[in-house]
Amino acid sequence: MNLALIVLAAGQGTRMKSSLPKVLHKVAGAPLVSHAIRSADGLETAKQIVVVGHGSEQVETALAAGFPDAQVVLQTERLGTAHAVDQAKDALSEFTGDAIVLYGDTPFIKPDTLRKMLDARKSGADVVILGFDAAAPGKYGRLIVKNDRLLRIVEAKDASKAELAVTLCNSGVVCADSATLFDLIAQVGNENASGEYYLTDIVEIANSVGKSCVAVTCDESETLGINSRPELAKAEAIFQAEKRETAMIEGATLQAPDTVYFSFDTRLGKDVIVEPNVVFAAGVSVEDNANIRAFSHLEDCTIRAGATVGPYARIRPGSDIGEGARIGNFVETKKAIISKGAKVNHLSYVGDAFVGEAANIGAGTVTCNYDGVLKHQTNIGAGAFIGTNSSLVAPVNVGDGAMTAAGSVITVDVPDDALAVARAPQKIHEGFVPRLIKKLKATKAKRDAEKRSEG
Ligand code: UD1
Ligand code: CA
Repeated sequence: MNLALIVLAAGQGTRMKSSLPKVLHKVAGAPLVSHAIRSADGLETAKQIVVVGHGSEQVETALAAGFPDAQVVLQTERLGTAHAVDQAKDALSEFTGDAIVLYGDTPFIKPDTLRKMLDARKSGADVVILGFDAAAPGKYGRLIVKNDRLLRIVEAKDASKAELAVTLCNSGVVCADSATLFDLIAQVGNENASGEYYLTDIVEIANSVGKSCVAVTCDESETLGINSRPELAKAEAIFQAEKRETAMIEGATLQAPDTVYFSFDTRLGKDVIVEPNVVFAAGVSVEDNANIRAFSHLEDCTIRAGATVGPYARIRPGSDIGEGARIGNFVETKKAIISKGAKVNHLSYVGDAFVGEAANIGAGTVTCNYDGVLKHQTNIGAGAFIGTNSSLVAPVNVGDGAMTAAGSVITVDVPDDALAVARAPQKIHEGFVPRLIKKLKATKAKRDAEKRSEG
């Protein structure tokens, strides 16, 4: 069956006090709106429509990378949730199948929950609403259920005392056949306490024309919505706690879980050890038995099996750290392939580079990859030995098994097995130091005498 997502994101987000649309604020390195879309992970959505009120280009740009098929539509006037969904109608005119309505500021709805809603549809319900048992029902819409049938949803503002006592609340997530949904919305009016077109009214309308409505429930934690930065921070904390727990359950050791920061897409293999204070920015994959040592920062990179990174390493985008390779303290890599068993152990910058198997990069090595305008490549062969404090001025190639002398500035390719020495030769001046000291002391004595005669 075809599935379309309609993500409502036209809210002003005034309480964020931000020039960025609310749904572009991030949790675990991804905008809230993409978390909302990921609620349908594994469900194969034919259409993803995001309804925004302003900043549509910004939202479109942010979604382009992860969700190239997502389509952004504008709700110029904010007339209520039914009106917001209606803005997706044209974009779905050719579509047949079910539509699920989600909120862009509600990032934690799980795919399994949406699956339960789709199952309820398959079992014959025309309209499925996601509800939850609220600890503090407050301003939430209340679900009025009788004999397993959802009769209507009443907004708190419009509710009677008896209705306010109901704790089964509306999450806002709706699932229905797309054509049915738009038919029902067309009948929604705005005679209510807010003067808005309530999406929730479709339930009562559906019942009045003989359609069936049911409520499916999820845990309240899934329905957490974000309206302010403190709430954003709370959501981040919840996400991190869950991700740490999952990483450990799946076989990684986190020595100090609370100090490790994950992104939405971090992948850790089995028997990976993560020491304290490690940051996984987006796009990191760590294979089995790798060791990520304290205070390292990794982004958009792959760490292969058994490799060691850190302490204090910075692994930047496009780095591929090979099997059993070692990246040590104060080493930065960027767009660098470090092959199996290679070592970059101390104080180096390796960028736009290929390092062959088992090569050894000495302390303080720098690939000089940028000339102020262009980036250039450095290739280091298998088993090569780069002497301490070498500058490799790219583009440059160091052959297999070759060696560069410590302190060299390598500007010309080094053939396989050759030694390159590119530094001023050392000179020896026999007995020079005592003569120098004697001369300096005489100078000092003369100056001291002059000072005394002046004073
Ligand atoms: C809505 C539900 C309520 C439910 C609650 C859950 C309605 C009438 N009420 O109430 O039953 O318990 O959510 O949080 O649906 N939006 C637009 N355009 C609009 C209006 C809203 O895009 O014109 C978006 C908002 O950005 C937000 C979502 O829809 O993401 C919900 O809107 P909001 O105004 O927060 O609805 P509530 O009054 O909280
Ligand atoms: Ca709300």
